[in-house]
Amino acid sequence: MLKDKIIHQLEISDDYISGETLAKQFGVSRAAIWKAVKSLKNDGCTIDSVPNRGYRLVRQSDSLNSDIIKENMNKRARSLALTVLETVDSTNNEAKRMLAGGFDGNALIIANEQTGGRGRLGRSFYSPKNTGIYMTFLLRSSLALSDAVTVTTAAAVAVARAVEAVTGINVQIKWVNDVYANGKKVCGILTEAVSDFETGIAKSIIIGIGINITTEHFPDGVSASSLGTTAPVRNQVIAAVANELTAIYDALPDHSAFIEYYRNHSNIIGKEIDFYISNEKHTGKAVDIDEDGGLVVKLPDGGMTVLSSGEVSVRPAGSEPPETK
Ligand code: BTN
Repeated sequence: MLKDKIIHQLEISDDYISGETLAKQFGVSRAAIWKAVKSLKNDGCTIDSVPNRGYRLVRQSDSLNSDIIKENMNKRARSLALTVLETVDSTNNEAKRMLAGGFDGNALIIANEQTGGRGRLGRSFYSPKNTGIYMTFLLRSSLALSDAVTVTTAAAVAVARAVEAVTGINVQIKWVNDVYANGKKVCGILTEAVSDFETGIAKSIIIGIGINITTEHFPDGVSASSLGTTAPVRNQVIAAVANELTAIYDALPDHSAFIEYYRNHSNIIGKEIDFYISNEKHTGKAVDIDEDGGLVVKLPDGGMTVLSSGEVSVRPAGSEPPETK
């Protein structure tokens, strides 16, 4: 295939190669080369095109590939029913549709693009094609709803470990479960549960994870970044997250094995924060993560409180806390 030949030639060249050289080499027209390069860019390859110089490969395509994902998974992760979609509204929605359709196993749904990616608190999650990981675990559960909260902490740990292992990039976790690199959010997690009201058991847990791998431009108002890797990593990161998450999940409700890691990777301990309880804004200093993943906060009056869920924002250094009544 012409595209494969071109990509190989660009890979082994340190400099630009002109369209004319490629056309002669492969016995096709320059227009055919131009068309193939356009198609490669559409596949996710970053190719620099400079008039009078030609083409240079900046970054290979990082295509999702279920075979590569499975090769990198351990036996437990491979037991998940794997679905890789080109595009979907939301992988969490897809998981819910599977449940509604009678699926009663454990699954991992991945998409190359989401057209209606959802975030926490009704926000949207920007999910352009080729440049991120949008994945949802649909897991059967016998956890009490109160214990299911820990899943969200577990997922952040799984992502952090996987990203560090595959890419070597140091990451931090902003309570509860945003993963940061270089001071900016690179991953968000949306956990949903389908529960049995009478027993208080979370029958199915839906863990949606979005990781920005190479996304460069975000919509106005979205403060996020990406890992910015240059080598293809999406398949490897997906498999590593699945390996880590299934191991942690199987041990729940025991979470002793990962709280220390979570605490060590927290980026808000020692920071002044704002948080909301029943829509009322409060302020304090984050001082610790407790054994259940709760955020221990020192209040302005010297008292202590522990947050077990919700959103906190770090107050910029030097800013005044709101007046206390
Ligand atoms: C957040 O940051 O508020 C959570 C974002 C969660 C995004 C992921 S991407 C895969 C899954 N599908 C969704 O629609 N959302 C989650």
